Amino acid sequence: MGSAAQERFSEGTAVVTGAAAGIGEGLVRHLGSLGMTVVVADIDAGRAESVAGDIEAAGGRAEAFGLDVSRSEDVEALAAAVFDRHGSVELLVNNAGIESAGLLWEIDEARWHRVMQVNVDGVFYCLKAFVPRMIDAGTPACIANLSSVGGLNCVAVQSPYIVSKHAVLAMTECLYQDLSLTDAPIQVSAVIPHSVRSEIFLAAQREAPSTNPTANAVFDAMQRDNVTKGMDPLVAAEHMIEQIAQGHFWIHSDDEICSAAARRRGAQLTELRPPSDPREMLTRMGVPLPEGRR
Ligand SMILES: NC(=O)c1ccc[n+]([C@@H]2O[C@H](COP(=O)([O-])OP(=O)(O)OC[C@H]3O[C@@H](n4cnc5c(N)ncnc54)[C@H](O)[C@@H]3O)[C@@H](O)[C@H]2O)c1
Repeated sequence: MGSAAQERFSEGTAVVTGAAAGIGEGLVRHLGSLGMTVVVADIDAGRAESVAGDIEAAGGRAEAFGLDVSRSEDVEALAAAVFDRHGSVELLVNNAGIESAGLLWEIDEARWHRVMQVNVDGVFYCLKAFVPRMIDAGTPACIANLSSVGGLNCVAVQSPYIVSKHAVLAMTECLYQDLSLTDAPIQVSAVIPHSVRSEIFLAAQREAPSTNPTANAVFDAMQRDNVTKGMDPLVAAEHMIEQIAQGHFWIHSDDEICSAAARRRGAQLTELRPPSDPREMLTRMGVPLPEGRR
């Protein structure tokens, strides 16, 4: 017997944003191998071309599309082009996202806005451009938005990211409810991965380096952890796509760690606990505690 993913995603069109690296790249490679036509949408058009070329070389069908999800006109152009060409989209994964290091009050204003524009506005623009077209097409479809375990729990020294991932989770639950008021056959899923090997921390420190030594040490440690303990993006993609195909709302990379994160949040709220003490995280990561907080 085949997997649910083979049954559901062996044909049709999938659009994945931020698909030229990390989780998105794993998703398009896996969906391409299942038989879907994949649209590799990314701000790095050159890398998107190269990922699409690899998928085609392996016998799949792929198209690259360069766009910045924080620009509504780019997203509208993507949706128009894809629907013109294929008539329907069976799977949309809103995956493009960026990180940021620093203490909340030290975050550069432009970086704060950039994180919100890419991580939150970008998802909204994609939903605004794709959902009406998906409803009109009338074909069964799925929308999966990338939040994070950081969208359930709060983690120190990355406030714009955490705020944005809580917002994406809320937006996904709102989308689920609003679509339930229509008869559109569109499934909605919230993806809350733990650690999957990617370039997200390196990209953040390259684009907006923090001047805070603790934040920098935490990001160095998270980057090391991501390389040594993060899941392989293809393995994570197989697991996540199978859960989406089975119709789940909550999609995990690693079931045990992701469920534990959800239980932690549940317990915090029901027991009215304050946020966790970040010094425990720093100690676990081997990051020296800031002066005066030892
Ligand atoms: N890697 C993890 O462990 C992890 C864990 C939880 C959640 N996530 C989420 O998964 C998603 C993918 O992250 P990743 O870790 O694979 O990151 P990554 O940095 O490896 O890949 C992100 C991709 O998005 C593209 N991108 C960035 N800004 C863009 C924009 N404005 N428009 C279009 N494309 C853009 C980048 O060029 C890159 O190819 C993010 O939303 C992230 O928050 C990742």
